[in-house]
Amino acid sequence: MKVLEIQGGRELKGTIRISGAKNSSVALIPAAILAEDDVTICNIPEVTDTDALSEILEFLGAEVKRASESIVINPKNIENKEIPEVLSKKLRASYYFMGSLLGKFKHVEMYFPGGCSIGSRPIDLHLKGFTALGATVNVENDKYVVDAQELKGANIYLDFASVGATINIMLAAVKAKGITTIDNAAKEPEIVNVATFLNNMGAKITGAGTSRIKIVGVKELKGCFHEVIPDRIEAGTYTIAGALLGNYLKIDNIIPEHIEALTSKLIEMGVELEIGDDYLIINKGNKYKSVNIQTRVFPGFPTDLQQPFTVLMTMCNGKSTIEETIYENRFMHIPYLIKMGANITIENKKAIIKGPTPLVGCEVEATDLRAGACLVIAGLVASGTTIISNIEHILRGYENIVEKLNDVGAKIEIKEI
Ligand code: EPZ
Repeated sequence: MKVLEIQGGRELKGTIRISGAKNSSVALIPAAILAEDDVTICNIPEVTDTDALSEILEFLGAEVKRASESIVINPKNIENKEIPEVLSKKLRASYYFMGSLLGKFKHVEMYFPGGCSIGSRPIDLHLKGFTALGATVNVENDKYVVDAQELKGANIYLDFASVGATINIMLAAVKAKGITTIDNAAKEPEIVNVATFLNNMGAKITGAGTSRIKIVGVKELKGCFHEVIPDRIEAGTYTIAGALLGNYLKIDNIIPEHIEALTSKLIEMGVELEIGDDYLIINKGNKYKSVNIQTRVFPGFPTDLQQPFTVLMTMCNGKSTIEETIYENRFMHIPYLIKMGANITIENKKAIIKGPTPLVGCEVEATDLRAGACLVIAGLVASGTTIISNIEHILRGYENIVEKLNDVGAKIEIKEI
């Protein structure tokens, strides 16, 4: 079994360069099959989630070349085969093959996707979108068969501004006949990145980044070159670590507007922060004010940073609260923070954190990706040694996390036990 061992209490100094966004990349890779020729995407992070998608591409018959951070996908020989459950269960984003295969072949067979266990995470809105475009959906034993004689543009309203449903509907609609509109669409930067990619391929999508996206169907999509945006959640994670341990820690290659909900909260707490065009520099403070956060869709405070942010709240003076409004089960990191010395209670969707409380290293478990990131930060700030198990979750989403942290002064290593 692999574990992460962290010797805590060391200051972080130097520069961390942020990788390409995992949550963009995992949509861009399946989207690439809609093209007729080679697609090159650069700045794809080397994390196990992108590896798993490349595996699905290869299973379908695409030619995939990986060279450091770029990927070249030749989708010419793709066959429309049922994606085996072992492949789709590896990650949540396998569901983007539903939209892209449906868009390309008008038929798709695959199983319910995997991903972090942070709530029930249904895909009803994705299916509602496919149905509105003219497909029929049959579900049997977790297997989805989605089929359409013809895909026709439609007006689709999403009851919740779901990231996955918005992207999946774009993928299915991009070659549909006529015009599709998605109302109450998700506005996350990853949506804009995917729409730009599809437009580079020849699609006609407008409004991405607003709550109304319009897609004029086109007959064919061609190959293109595309760049993944910086990972705002990775940037946020290291920024939070910087607020606890930074000594002029530079977080480089970021789009500051993408993490404004976080930086505003940090400023409210009294964190010393310099924000540049594509970087920020952060210093550890002595005394932070307590704050309250509510997770919201973009541009609100991202649920994916709620867990890492909890560690910072244990160091604030007084009572801080987190209200998780996106997922039903995203407090699994809390028992481990309590084990490390935090004073936290949970009341329904709210975590109440009383601080400051020093954290002490011990054995903990990463129950999901961002819970893992939270425990890494907790380990960095705690006294003594922290050992994190189940680190596969962390490696799904953070490229070179060990190297990046050691380079700025942390003491962290992967050990086989
Ligand atoms: C994406 O998940 C991200 N994953 C998540 O990142 C992120 O937490 C989430 O967006 C919100 O920002 C990927 O991009 C691969 P949603 P997604 O559809 O698309 C409900 C991470 O740590 N819902 O916006 O699955 C759903 O249950 C991860 O990197 C429905 O009810 O998120 C959830 O409560 C975890 N029906 C809420 O909406 C649906 O059909 C948000 O889901 C779809 C969603």
